[in-house]
Amino acid sequence: MDINRYRPEDRRAVDALYRRVFGHDAADASRLRWDWQYRRNPNNPGGEPEIWIAREGPAIVGQYATMPVRLAVKGREVKGSWGMDVMVAPERQRQGLGELLFRTWDRNVGASLGLGLSDASYRLFQKLRWPDVGPVPCFVKPLTRRAFRRPNWPMGLNRLVSAMMLPIVKIVARTRPLNAEVRLLHRFDDSFTEFWESIAPRFDLSVRRDAAYLNWKFASAPHVRYAIVALVRNGQTAGYAVYRHLTEPRGRLTLLVDLLTEPDDEPGIATLLRWVDREAREADSDKIRAFAMHAAFRRVLRHSGYFQVKSTMEFVVKINDVDLPADFYERTDGWHVTLGDSDQDR
Ligand SMILES: CC(C)(COP(=O)(O)OP(=O)(O)OC[C@H]1O[C@@H](n2cnc3c(N)ncnc32)[C@H](O)[C@@H]1OP(=O)(O)O)[C@@H](O)C(=O)NCCC(=O)NCCS
Repeated sequence: MDINRYRPEDRRAVDALYRRVFGHDAADASRLRWDWQYRRNPNNPGGEPEIWIAREGPAIVGQYATMPVRLAVKGREVKGSWGMDVMVAPERQRQGLGELLFRTWDRNVGASLGLGLSDASYRLFQKLRWPDVGPVPCFVKPLTRRAFRRPNWPMGLNRLVSAMMLPIVKIVARTRPLNAEVRLLHRFDDSFTEFWESIAPRFDLSVRRDAAYLNWKFASAPHVRYAIVALVRNGQTAGYAVYRHLTEPRGRLTLLVDLLTEPDDEPGIATLLRWVDREAREADSDKIRAFAMHAAFRRVLRHSGYFQVKSTMEFVVKINDVDLPADFYERTDGWHVTLGDSDQDR
C-alpha cells in the first residue's frame, strides 16, 4: 500500500469511495464544495489540493483531505492543517490504514488540527495521543420561548417548559443600544489584514484571519450564504462578525459563525453581539448559537444573555514546528477557535 498526494485523475474513484463511506447526501454536498474547499483555498499555492490518498495497486482505499491554514501560535506563524474528510474503505477499516494516513498527514504539516470529529476519528486521535483540548464551548441565547423546545420531547412538555421560561427570555432578549458603528459588507478589504496583523500576537493560538482567508471562507463559500458586518471605530476597522439564519426541526436559528475583535475590546464584542441580536429577531429566529474558546469572548457572550450548553465540537491539535511550554495545551483561554474554523459550518 502507498500513501501519496492526490492527482486530478483520482477524482472519480475518490468520489465513489466518499459515497460508499459517507452516503449519497454527504457526497452530493461535498461535490458542491469540493473545488472551493480544496483548490481555491488561498493557502494552497498552485491550487494543489492538500489531500493524501491511500492506494493498493490501482485501487483507492482511503484518503485524508485537509485544509491548510496559517496558524498564529504565541506570536509565531506555523503551517497548520485542519484534517477534515478522512475515510477508509469499509472492508479495510480497523486494519491500521487510518493510522498510516493520520501519521503521513502529520509528518507533512507544521501543526495538525481536528475539529468536530466523528466518534471513530476522535478515538483514533486519542489512540495516537494527539493533545485533546476540546470540546470548543457552545453558547445559546434564547430569543423566544420556542428556544427551549427539544425535538425528542413530547409537545406537552415542550409547551410547559416554554411557558416557564418566558420571564427569562423577556429579560435576556431585550434590545440594547449599539456602542459603535456596524457596517454590512460583501467582501473584506485590506484593512482586515492590517487589523489581523495588529492583534495576532494577542492570541496564543488562532488561524490567521486575513482578508484573503476571510473572503475565501465567508464571502465565496458555494454552499451557504453568510451575512458579514464590520465593526468600525473612528473610521477604522475594529472587528467583524459572520452569521447566517436557518431552520432546524423545532424552530428558527441564527448561527454566529465567526467573530473577531481585539480580545479586551469588551464594548466592541458586545456591539457586534447586539447587532446579531437585532438581525436574528428580524429573521424571526428563536435563538442564536455560537462557539467560542477564548475567555474574553466567552465572558462577553455570558454577559450578553448567552448560556453555555453541552458542546459536541471536539478539538484536537498537535503543534510540530514550534517549541512550546509544557502547559501549552492546558492553558487555552487565549485560543481563538469558533464555528467558522475548519469546515464545521457545512
Ligand atoms: C476514521 C477512520 C478513517 C479510521 O480508519 P481505520 O483504518 O479504521 O483506523 P485504524 O485501523 O488505523 O485505527 C483503528 C482505531 O481507530 C478507532 N476507530 C476506528 N473505527 C472505529 C469505530 N467504528 N468505532 C470506534 N473507534 C474506531 C479506534 O481507536 C481503533 O483502534 P482499535 O481498533 O484498537 O479499537 C475510518 O474508521 C473511517 O473511514 N470511518 C468512517 C468515516 C469517518 O468517520 N471519518 C471521520 C470523519 S471526521
